[in-house]
Amino acid sequence: MIIRECGDGVLVHAPAKLNLFLDVGNRRADGFHDLETVIMGVALYDSLRFELAPAGEFALQSELHQSLARDRRNDLPPPKENAVVRALQALAEAAGVERGMRVQLTKRIPSQSGLGGASSDAAAALLAANQLWQLDWTDDQLAEVGAGVGSDVPFFFYGPCARCTGRGEIVEPLRSPRPLYFVLVHPPEGLSTADVFAQCRPGRQAESDRLLDAIERGDQADLVQSLHNSLETAAEELQPWVGRLRHAFARAGCRAFQMSGSGTSFFGLCHHPLHAQRVAGRLRSRQVGQVHCVKSTRHWSRARPSLN
Ligand code: C5P
Repeated sequence: MIIRECGDGVLVHAPAKLNLFLDVGNRRADGFHDLETVIMGVALYDSLRFELAPAGEFALQSELHQSLARDRRNDLPPPKENAVVRALQALAEAAGVERGMRVQLTKRIPSQSGLGGASSDAAAALLAANQLWQLDWTDDQLAEVGAGVGSDVPFFFYGPCARCTGRGEIVEPLRSPRPLYFVLVHPPEGLSTADVFAQCRPGRQAESDRLLDAIERGDQADLVQSLHNSLETAAEELQPWVGRLRHAFARAGCRAFQMSGSGTSFFGLCHHPLHAQRVAGRLRSRQVGQVHCVKSTRHWSRARPSLN
């Protein structure tokens, strides 16, 4: 998460995330599933510019960055349903402030892709509002408001690497490993998170110990062996692109690969930037969707602007 002062407002670059490990447990009485996941931030960013507005005004202008513009499934939701507006309204209510906000959002993270774009945008909104409304709330307090907006939102206060449990909102920051190089592909069709959870057969399948140990020791060979996502089968049952992507990645020559979150994006782990470029070239030639080379984000820069 990168925050900068920008004229009278605040500019935030909100990163995407990948799930290196995701194991879904039982469905709970509240309709959510218990889960364990290990999440890592990557350097693919939405950009959000925030400016103060009169009380009650929550205005969102969104545009798709040109890298997404030809992709029709990324049609943006109406402002009222957007996680950014819901987060701002929730914070204004919780803090009892009579303030509003104008937001310009440039989307580079595809929606319905398992890359956490909407959650990251919501966390960015809470951080920006905390500054501009001069609330001086702690990350823990903001994350609690964020959890009401979406299960993945709290992670974005504690990145770049964390283990998350509960429904995803209980976050334990982890040491960030040496830079990791990924190739990301998002296919032309996405999936709704709710649909994928509804389709999955809950029940723990895997343990994260080996991955957590690999992260702690900085052992990439072990990390490569420890990727896991128990939502992949459910996603494949709902969306044929998931199977196509797995097939394409199996022939692309990366170290390991899997779907991120509830899909439909896949990521492949590579040795170094040049390896990632080569893998990306092979995947582009197969026309399986939009292909990006991205690096893990090592520092969660939280440079707070001084507005006074
Ligand atoms: O929390 P979030 O808004 O991202 O969740 C979207 C939907 O995904 C939830 O309404 C629920 O149906 C499903 N979900 C779940 N268990 C989780 C997280 C999400 O069943 N841990």
